[in-house]
Amino acid sequence: MARGAQFLGSETAILCGAMSWVSERNLVSAISNAGGFGVIACGAMSPELLDKEIAATKAMTSKPFGVNLITMHPALFDLIAVCAKHQVSHVVLAGGLPPKGSVEAIKDTGAKVICFAPTLALGKKLLRSGADALVIEGHEAGGHIGPVSTNVLAQEILPALAADHLVFVAGGIGRGELIASFLELGAAGVQLGTRFAAATESIAHPDFKKAFFRGHARDAMPSVQVDPRLPVIPVRALKNKGTEEFTAKQIEIAAKLDAGEIEMGEAQLAIEHYWAGALRRAVIDGDVENGSVMAGQSVGLVTKEEPVAEIIAELMSQCEAALASR
Ligand SMILES: Cc1cc2nc3c(=O)[nH]c(=O)nc-3n(C[C@H](O)[C@H](O)[C@H](O)COP(=O)(O)O)c2cc1C
Repeated sequence: MARGAQFLGSETAILCGAMSWVSERNLVSAISNAGGFGVIACGAMSPELLDKEIAATKAMTSKPFGVNLITMHPALFDLIAVCAKHQVSHVVLAGGLPPKGSVEAIKDTGAKVICFAPTLALGKKLLRSGADALVIEGHEAGGHIGPVSTNVLAQEILPALAADHLVFVAGGIGRGELIASFLELGAAGVQLGTRFAAATESIAHPDFKKAFFRGHARDAMPSVQVDPRLPVIPVRALKNKGTEEFTAKQIEIAAKLDAGEIEMGEAQLAIEHYWAGALRRAVIDGDVENGSVMAGQSVGLVTKEEPVAEIIAELMSQCEAALASR
């Protein structure tokens, strides 16, 4: 884990993955202050809002933290400029392959670039294009997910890349013993979201947190794709009325696509806007029936509200005990 921590500039190589609406100044600074690595979720934020959020986070921690930018954001390059202005040390690019020039633009600011690698081939390509580190995230994770489990991704990608590159593993991690196993396979560190979303310092609505404490692994289900022509990236969230609404939303958007009222790109953007709105409803307004309570399968391991420092300390002691007993 030391090389991961050195790369991040943090005490431990435990990242708290960016979570839209949840990963703002309070949670991000708490994670970094507790020895982990917090990441601001820029999501659909405007450059002005991101500017304020970074400044506010800096006021709450002197430790390094990152900013997660979504590659399809229409103002991606303006957001990169905001990160440069604040000399953000690490930028995470999420949501698809980085558009031309974006990795270079970030590196020109002196920041390190972390990319999500959905397959070994794409991981190699991203490293060739200048990514400084990779995150591999399995199907168990909360939020937008890929089709392959964390265990299989880790076995495919870590032995091939981890000796020479920094690879962080995400998806379904709830205990330190599992972190130990990924470190043994060569991971530089790990990224968790679900375990931190309901932490004391998270600004998520109390009802959102309660839904996490009640939720079991089998309640955190991926969304279904109703129309094969409309490629929807599945989202894992706790089952509720909102899950059904999303199915109806897809049918509505597919009909518009058929009628030639919108283009495919617009259709996909409409879906992403839907998710951002639905997640806000759950996280900020506490509407856990109609909103999207994005959560990974490890939600079953989240049973009470805990300060992030305690969560990180517990993960690290479980990890250390597991490694010491080998
Ligand atoms: C409520 C929620 C919102 C999320 N939002 C984002 C996001 O905006 N951008 C992103 O890259 N990942 C997002 N994720 C994924 C996390 O950053 C992280 O990679 C994931 O939660 C790790 O898997 P785990 O949930 O099994 O710990 C989100 C996850 C959750 C639970």
